[in-house]
Amino acid sequence: MICSEIETFKQLKGNKPLVLIVDDRYRTFQSLPQFISSKDFDPLWVADEQQGLAVLNSQSNTVSIIIIDIKSAEMGGGGFFQKARRIAPHAAILITGPMGPFLYQGGGFYEYSGPSLKRDLNTILMGIAQKMGAKDRHEKRQSKPDEHRHRFGVIIGKSRGINAVYQLIENLKHTSATVLIQGESGTGKELVAQTICQTSTRKNFPFMAINCGAIPASLMESELFGHERGAFTSAMQQRKGKFEIASGGTLFLDEIGELDKSLQVKLLRVLQEKEFQRVGGNVTIKTDVRIIAATSQDLKKDVKSGRFRDDLFYRLNVVPITIPPLRDRREDIPLLLNHFLEVYAREMDMPLPVMTEEVKDALLSYSYPGNVRELANIVERLLVTCPGGESIIQYLPEELCQKAGMAIHSTGLINQLPEGGVRLQDVEKELLVKTLEMTNGNKLAAAKMLGITRRLLYLRLSEYGLSSSKCH
Ligand SMILES: Nc1ncnc2c1ncn2[C@@H]1O[C@H](COP(=O)(O)OP(=O)(O)O)[C@@H](O)[C@H]1O
Ligand SMILES: [Mg+2]
Repeated sequence: MICSEIETFKQLKGNKPLVLIVDDRYRTFQSLPQFISSKDFDPLWVADEQQGLAVLNSQSNTVSIIIIDIKSAEMGGGGFFQKARRIAPHAAILITGPMGPFLYQGGGFYEYSGPSLKRDLNTILMGIAQKMGAKDRHEKRQSKPDEHRHRFGVIIGKSRGINAVYQLIENLKHTSATVLIQGESGTGKELVAQTICQTSTRKNFPFMAINCGAIPASLMESELFGHERGAFTSAMQQRKGKFEIASGGTLFLDEIGELDKSLQVKLLRVLQEKEFQRVGGNVTIKTDVRIIAATSQDLKKDVKSGRFRDDLFYRLNVVPITIPPLRDRREDIPLLLNHFLEVYAREMDMPLPVMTEEVKDALLSYSYPGNVRELANIVERLLVTCPGGESIIQYLPEELCQKAGMAIHSTGLINQLPEGGVRLQDVEKELLVKTLEMTNGNKLAAAKMLGITRRLLYLRLSEYGLSSSKCH
């Protein structure tokens, strides 16, 4: 018995279960991804626990095995092992170490006596594959032809916009072309980059992500290209950079628009010449890394203003992928909503909440300026704040209810503003007076109509000196 909750895998034809390797010893494990692929699983290799958790959070349904080093297996609360168990309870965790690997599964530990990690892994993979095979056959019998896909691997959505993204990922399978992903924050740029990596021939090699906006320019060069010992005051040891570590794999350069101008030149040179030197070094190192860059800014504008080099832009923009904001693909909202409800309910070990129509309406009609990330956060907050899984409108953030209201109906009152504009205060004052007239001065009714609390209404009335106006 390998994986008790194999039924939770929602794989589509062609999407394989994932084996997540969280380890930075690339030399030791070099041949492991190849081996995993040969068993019809997708390997995904990340260098540290933080990235491992990011993968688990976004793809917990797909990960079937997690391979970690004994260092990550600390049993104390708050460690990677405990978090992984919670986020992906169905996944088996294989812990490697000098004493030979052991396996954590379904709440128990099993020791493996064999010295070969591959042989042990083989046994586990075969068990899962067998179960998956049975499930696939079952799904094939039930599947109907579907013109628009509802998901692609872990990416969820059925809109035309997201289907165009699926098609591009499909087209990129057999190439190593550089990709530039554009989209507002939270639209899923990193998820798309991971999926491109997993579906490409580079899937057996590392996927490394680096946020160009989060690292100071002074450290970025060494992050990308590494440094030699003594290259600068704090360089006590030689260190490999992302280009070297991700060799053969994929490097995701997030928020590329934030990259310092001096580094833009250096990056361009590496992309053209496919070689670089570590900071403070003189050895030329060859590199074979696929670059996927992403930006939430309008890079063309930055090119025009001179903030971003045009030659680098064209070098990166070989295959552009634009992910539309969520408000422009509203058909995806119900699917994503259900998905995150399931994910967080499982993570928090609570039943799926029963949503009133009111809550559902508010969630479906909101404009989500923070896109999918905001939707996920709202669902998580909703589940945290509504005990027992019963959800009523009061648990929704107030701004969502208000904005949701605004997103559905325009008041239709404002057709054209006068040339000089209107002062908000004047409009508000007039609105208060008119509403109170309508309710015959009943403040509670007026507050309700305005969608504010009675306290706030009193406050506004006194601000505008209307407290003694026609009201009870
Ligand atoms: N289409 C999608 N289906 C499922 N999850 C998604 C989708 N788009 C985004 N997400 C999730 O939303 C969060 C934000 O996505 P991310 O890729 O980090 O966005 P970006 O890099 O554009 O800011 C992540 O948790 C990601 O897994
Ligand atoms: Mg991002």
